[in-house]
Amino acid sequence: MTPLLIDTDPGIDDALALLLAFGSPECRVEAITTVAGNVEVPLCTRNARRVVAVAAPIRPPWIVEGAAGPLARPLRTATHYHGADGLGDALPPEASPPATAPGLAARTLVETARRVGRMLTVVAIGPLTNVAQALELDATALADIGRLVVMGGAVDVPGNVTPTAEFNMHVDPEAADRVVAAGLPLELVPLDVTQRVILARAALDTALERAPQRLADFVSTFTRFAFRVEAAADHPGLTLHDPLAVGVALSPSFVTFERVRLEIGADGETRRRPGPPNCRVALAVEAERFVPWFLERLCRASSS
Ligand code: BDR
Ligand code: CA
Repeated sequence: MTPLLIDTDPGIDDALALLLAFGSPECRVEAITTVAGNVEVPLCTRNARRVVAVAAPIRPPWIVEGAAGPLARPLRTATHYHGADGLGDALPPEASPPATAPGLAARTLVETARRVGRMLTVVAIGPLTNVAQALELDATALADIGRLVVMGGAVDVPGNVTPTAEFNMHVDPEAADRVVAAGLPLELVPLDVTQRVILARAALDTALERAPQRLADFVSTFTRFAFRVEAAADHPGLTLHDPLAVGVALSPSFVTFERVRLEIGADGETRRRPGPPNCRVALAVEAERFVPWFLERLCRASSS
């Protein structure tokens, strides 16, 4: 079983990515660390808890709140897509979780890296603030993990928040710059591949018919908002950015990697540069194989 630590800003596609991990028998989610991104970090933490409550894994992961904002600039959120609460504004209201000590996520990353070492895969599906802070605490421990799979960047395609930048990189470019420069076992899953992985509403509805009722109700409720946003823009469905990153962590054969030297621009651009590679970038994807695989596991995310 692959031990995973998922660093996330849930977020609708983040929630789907977490459920994919819980529905996957070959991994164990050791910890979930949250980071400000799609919404403010207390909401991200609350949403991570909501997902874990529905998935009800036998061995629930630690959920640890992380950075409340980027290293060096104000937070830019994405509530227009994820809703004001980060999960489509349709779930029953709940009390906010108690605040946790700042920096705890970075410490959790380091402790998990030290404890699990080469066996550990970290999947980072939000801005890279926590990972950059963990590097400051112990860069050696992070360099010694097995894999760091990051959803982010737009290498040979346009960005989704500026003409050249992708959201996770754009929110905290200073953090992204440190992570890319740190000599980590970095695998990037950028828009180049995630934008080709589209989930149609009809396919989700059909799949959820075989899921446990509570899980089916939860997923269909929190995805409604994003499906409406996509339909208004004439898009055929939800883009499975973060689920593809978890998918690649579990089964790298969904994508084809190229070794690339990347540099992070001031706006979070991910630019190719000459010189020795500093990461592997996924540049082709078997989208038609990934989507049914994802749906099958999503429906197994909860046995209750
Ligand atoms: C990324 O931005 C966020 O809004 C999504 O959750 C995903 O991690 C895609 O650009
Ligand atoms: Ca995300």
